[in-house]
Amino acid sequence: MNTHAITEFFLSEDAANFSVENDDSPLAAKPLWVPIERYGNCHLALALGVGQAAIGPLMQFSSDMSMSCELRSKIDEKNAEGVSFQAFFEPHDDTSARIILFEAPMNYDKKWESNFTLNLSVLRSRCGNLGLRCFSSSGRADLESKLAVVKWVAGPNDRISLLTARRHRSRRIKTTLERFNVAYDHEMFANRKADDEREDASSFTLLEKVSSGPKRKSEDPITAEFLLNLPSAKVAEGDDVYHYAHRVLQSLIPIQPPNFPKRIHSVHQRENRPVRILSLCSGAAAMERRMVANAGCPVEITLFDLNEKLMRKAGALLSPIAETSGVLGDVNALSVEQFGDMTFDVVMFVSGLHHVVDIEHVLQTVAELLVPNGEFWIIGEAVGRNGNQLWPEALAAANRIFSLLPERFRRNAFTGNIDSTVPETDFSANSFEGIRSEEIELLLLRYFDPIKMWRRNCFLWRLVNQVYSRNYDLKNQGDRCIVLSLVAAEYNLWKSGGRPTESHSVYRRR
Ligand SMILES: C[S@@+](CC[C@H](N)C(=O)[O-])C[C@H]1O[C@@H](n2cnc3c(N)ncnc32)[C@H](O)[C@@H]1O
Repeated sequence: MNTHAITEFFLSEDAANFSVENDDSPLAAKPLWVPIERYGNCHLALALGVGQAAIGPLMQFSSDMSMSCELRSKIDEKNAEGVSFQAFFEPHDDTSARIILFEAPMNYDKKWESNFTLNLSVLRSRCGNLGLRCFSSSGRADLESKLAVVKWVAGPNDRISLLTARRHRSRRIKTTLERFNVAYDHEMFANRKADDEREDASSFTLLEKVSSGPKRKSEDPITAEFLLNLPSAKVAEGDDVYHYAHRVLQSLIPIQPPNFPKRIHSVHQRENRPVRILSLCSGAAAMERRMVANAGCPVEITLFDLNEKLMRKAGALLSPIAETSGVLGDVNALSVEQFGDMTFDVVMFVSGLHHVVDIEHVLQTVAELLVPNGEFWIIGEAVGRNGNQLWPEALAAANRIFSLLPERFRRNAFTGNIDSTVPETDFSANSFEGIRSEEIELLLLRYFDPIKMWRRNCFLWRLVNQVYSRNYDLKNQGDRCIVLSLVAAEYNLWKSGGRPTESHSVYRRR
């Protein structure tokens, strides 16, 4: 790993983090920025003449990175034949050759453009420079045609949109200042005029001029020792490591998760009839059974799943406490007709929505199946990164604490090996696990309004699930302290902006 190498890059006229080189000269050329008209807007682009290449900074690559480009031509139509562009990787070590990542001809057509995103996982663990090159296959270097680079960003996949938005900062600030200097002069804002006239600038001090005061002390991170004294850290009868760790985590989160049994009970009190519930991807309905039992009121529950064996099991468990029926089918093809005339007070997924491919269709159908003001619940739902993977900041934090653990806590129950890092598994590669989980929360907002959201678990579940849970003995105080240090690391990351992957939330039909 090269310590000078960076992991993200964006091309901008504000930064000197790239160079322009001529094929036939070792000297760097001065970057030429040109205005480009695109769909009625004027963009600033880096122009590369035939025989020129733009070389990005030295970068260290990992499997999770991509490069996104928008290119246009500034073509001399008479001479454009044979002009192409190339995206390439120049390895840092002189022993290996340049890798051509992508190459395409630029047409005669004045409107030529190319937008593309390249998956850079082929460069994982490598160090070097990315480049964009304009060249002529006929070897003629005197052509006037130019490649206009409107966008060129590279970095971790989940930072591409951020990096894209960071370009042209000074230009954007300038137009923002210009625009808002006059925006409120419009007659629409006439009532602001009186306030403006009262303005007395002399009593106002810019903050940067008085920044010598004491620095705000940020909250100290919590530690395993602190957790050890919490009532939730006492081991209860029948606790396993997964539930123990998550109970302690829950006790740290200032708001409580939705009380689902209580919500069922209030529907019953309001409507004065059995509460009608539909559970999608209900499986063995273990959670559903507990909820209905705790609600303490009459319930009619309909189960929906692909798996007949699990449904029969769920039916046998639920029938003694609720009026139970079942529909076998693929939830992706869910339809109102499958339920006759029935509508429901509550439709829920308990850890099932992250298996769904046609989320839009399913949510739309759920909205139709609900009574007006009916509620849609997701319980223990995986709403993190696709494939139930960890987000980069969570993976880094998980690995930081994991690498400090003695070997016996890093034994992988499935492989028998001692892991040095948390496995980066994409569970969707061969299944529907987390097939579109990144999109779930945004799509929900198209059809429902959130009433109560409770989200947690940036990475903790990956360190205390079946892969490692057998390595711990909760009766042993040392083992308990290790579990609590995992909980503390999880909480500290969550507190400072780590993205949760688990949601227990209530949404209402519009
Ligand atoms: C994690 S389990 C649900 C757990 C269950 N709610 C409980 O508390 O015991 C996921 C369930 O989704 C079901 N499932 C997965 N894909 C499905 C699909 N396309 N259509 C219907 N059910 C599906 C599986 O059969 C499985 O029973």
